[in-house]
Amino acid sequence: MDIEITILFLIITFFISNIALIINACMSKKIKIICDNLEYDLEMTEDKTILELALEHDIDAPYSCQGGICSTCLAKLDKGTVQMDNNQILTDDEVEDGYILSCQARPTSDELEVNYDEV
Ligand code: FES
Repeated sequence: MDIEITILFLIITFFISNIALIINACMSKKIKIICDNLEYDLEMTEDKTILELALEHDIDAPYSCQGGICSTCLAKLDKGTVQMDNNQILTDDEVEDGYILSCQARPTSDELEVNYDEV
C-alpha cells in the first residue's frame, strides 16, 4: 500500500511540476508563413516544426535532409522566437540575425512570422 501511495505521489508531483510546460506546449501559436509571395495565417503548437506545419498546409516550402544539416529549409524569422532541435550549419551570427532552419524550429512565442522569400 505504501508503494502505491508513493507512486501516486510521484505521478502527481511530476504532473504538477510540468503543468506549465504541458499547457504551453498545447496552446496554439499564431504564425504567418510567407512563401512564393503568398501569405498564410495559421495556428500551430510546439509539438511540430514550422516546416511540418507548412507541408501539412501544402505550402511549397523548400527542404531536403530534415535533420538540421543542409540548410535547404532556411527561412527568416521576422517576428517571434523559436527553439531549434538541431542546428549544425547556421552560425551564431546568422541565428542572431533571425535565420532559422524551419525543419528544426518549434515556436516559443505566441506569434511568429516566418519568411521563406527573404533568404
Ligand atoms: S531540410 Fe536540411 S536543414 Fe532543414
